[in-house]
Formats: sequence, C-alpha cells, structure tokens
Amino acid sequence: MTAHQRLTIGLFGFGVVGEGLYKVLQQTSSLNATIKKVCIKDANKKRNAPAELFTTDKDELLNDETINVIVEVINESEPAFQIISKALTNKKAVVSASKKMIAEHLPEILKLQEQTGMPFLCESSACASIPVIRNLEEYYDNDLLHSLRAIINGSTNYILTKMFENKLDFKTALLQAQQLGFAEADPTLDVDGWDAVNKWVILLCHAYGIITSSKEILFTGIQNINESDANVGREKNYEIRLVAQAKKLLNGKIAAFVFPQFVNHEDHLAFVKNEYNGVVIESSFADKQFFYGKGAGSFPTASAVLSDISALRYEYRYEYKKLYHHTPNQLTNDFYVRVYVSFDEWNLIPREKFEWIEEWHAQEGRKYLIAVIHFNHLAEDDWWKKNNTSLILTPDPIIEDIELRKLKKKSLELAGIS
Ligand code: HSE
Repeated sequence: MTAHQRLTIGLFGFGVVGEGLYKVLQQTSSLNATIKKVCIKDANKKRNAPAELFTTDKDELLNDETINVIVEVINESEPAFQIISKALTNKKAVVSASKKMIAEHLPEILKLQEQTGMPFLCESSACASIPVIRNLEEYYDNDLLHSLRAIINGSTNYILTKMFENKLDFKTALLQAQQLGFAEADPTLDVDGWDAVNKWVILLCHAYGIITSSKEILFTGIQNINESDANVGREKNYEIRLVAQAKKLLNGKIAAFVFPQFVNHEDHLAFVKNEYNGVVIESSFADKQFFYGKGAGSFPTASAVLSDISALRYEYRYEYKKLYHHTPNQLTNDFYVRVYVSFDEWNLIPREKFEWIEEWHAQEGRKYLIAVIHFNHLAEDDWWKKNNTSLILTPDPIIEDIELRKLKKKSLELAGIS
C-alpha cells in the first residue's frame, strides 16, 4: 500500500461497532476511504444501509483484489482469527477490534505480521477511544515505563458507578450497560473480568513486549462485590474500581494482574466513572500521566477504528519495539499484596496463609479482614473466589520482598506483639 493511496474497505460485522464505523465514515469524506462490501452472518436482519452492500460470503471480500483493507469487528473469536489470517496472507492490511481473538492468538498474529509484512492495527481493542496502544508503542521506551494502572472495561465500571452512586441493583445496572451497547454479547465476559484480562494481554505486549495469555495473568471481575464491601470502602474514604495493573519490580520483572481495587478519592482512577476508561502511566522522568476517554460504545470504538484506517494511509504499523528491539520483560508472581477479604464464615479463610493480618472485623453478619499475602498463593488457590468470599486489593497493593520485613516488624509492633 502506498502513502495516501485510496483505501477500499471490506468490513466484517455490522453490529454496534460496524454500524458505528459505517456512519462515521459517511461523515469523514476527507479520509479517502470507502466501504465496498460488508460481510454479515444473518442476511435476514434489517440493516440501516443499502442491501447491495451486504453479503454472507466472506471470500467475496477476502478474494477481492480491489479491497486493500479488511476491518474486522465481529464477536466470535475463532471466525475472526480465520478472517484476519486469510486477509493478511492475501496481502490486505487489517484493522481489528476483536480483543478476545487477539488475546487468544497473539503469537500467531505476530508471526503472520512478520511473514506477510502487512500491518495489523487494533487500537479499538483496548480502551476504545483512548489512543493508548499507539502511545505505548511510540512514546514510552522500555526502561522508562515503571507502571500502568488502568480501568479497561466500560461495562463493569458502569455497573459499579450505578450500584454505588445511583443505588441501582446489579441486575438493573447490567441491563442498562447491555441496552447502551457497552456489554459483550455474553456479559459474563465483562462481569467476571475476561474482557479486562484480554485487553491487558494486548496492552502488556505493547507496553513491555510481554507475550502472555489470560491463563497466565491472575484476574477476577466484580462478580463477588457486594454492598457491604462498598460500605467498608465508604468508611475508609475509598471507591471500588476494577483495575488492571502492571509494575516493574526492583528485580526488573513485571507484576501484572486484574482485580477489584479500593482507590482513594485523589486517585486519577476514582475520577473514571460510567463507561469511561482511564490509564495512569508512571515513567521515570514524566512522573504520572493520565489518559481518559470513553472505553465502550458505538462511536467511541468506531473512532479508534477510524484512526487506524487513517494511519494506514501513511503506512503506519506497529514495530513491537519492546519485543524485537529490547530484551523482552518477564512476568513474575513473586511479590506480596495487601488485600481486603470479606466473607461469611471464619473457617473458610486459610488464616495461616497470610503474612500478617492488619485488621479483622468479626461481628455478626458479613466479616472482613485486611491482610498481606504472597501473590503466588492467590494464583495457586481459589478459596478467595468461592463461598461468597470477596477479595479487593487495597490502594497501592504491591509489596516487594525487600519491603516486607520492615512492614511486618512495624505491624507486629502496632499490634503489641513484638
Ligand atoms: N464490553 C466492553 C466493555 C466493550 O464494556 O468495555 C468495549 O471493549
């Protein structure tokens, strides 16, 4: 593809994002890009576009030599991977929003880009309207990036906001997120943290050159959060967010996870409400930077797809600098975290696994503790997900080996034990 060449697009999917893109492109004539054909699954569904635009035959797009860009915004992961594989092999540039597919096929997608030399852009796959992937690729050098903390799922953030600020119950808040087009077709992907961890896999690749998968990153969603957790948070002046976090530890390895977290009111992430997403990046000299924008919905997602399409005009592609030009970073579970755990019965909590317990509240009804635990223990055992147990990380939760002894001594002194 040569610079400023006319872009002829084959679009896969005409749902929330696909239709959004179609409308947005109609209003962006300066882009010199047109949709030639749209491939859909259900030919009988009523569409707000001329009937001759649609087909159910994917090869009509993939084998059309006049189509030089495939935009893929369908829901199903495996068919999406087949489409983008064939498109790249047939020397078409690809723009994709399919975070699940990308996270599940990351090594193959990297290989396909290497083999075919074709660009694969996916800005809309994480944080929708926030241009975080391109910033991580281009701006932050490997050595400078200390940490990332992010809200990357709009639906769960919307649900948390509605539950705790507008006093809606979980089901009603989820229904609203679905009606507004934020939630996945299967909303447990949002609620249980799958969507967030998939996006985190993508961002870890662009931020740190890490190739990983949802099997290696410990995560949970907001499925176990309840009103009593919010009440404890309120007493302590905290709000609850589903936070994806990555931090370069003193040994150079990367701690990465997705968990509900208490955040202080002054935290940038406390500012992120409803379907908005936010990313706080900490680097050596710039200190903290905060990216904020809509993380779900038709036009915000379409705007990122549009930006990728526009970038193809000047032959933009990801170089994956952290992966290919630096020594890639390694993940580790060898660190400690400070956690809040709420539960119904003491005997379901393995108290011996905690390094120390800082607070416990054992009154009638819902009980909770705040304690420090080795992260690997959470990776190896799942008591904290079962029996109506809820685990929320405390603000600034990561404790490194070197800090542990000092903190332990202090906490025992405070408890009058040493
Ligand atoms: N279900 C996703 C979310 C859509 O709520 O963030 C955007 O990726």
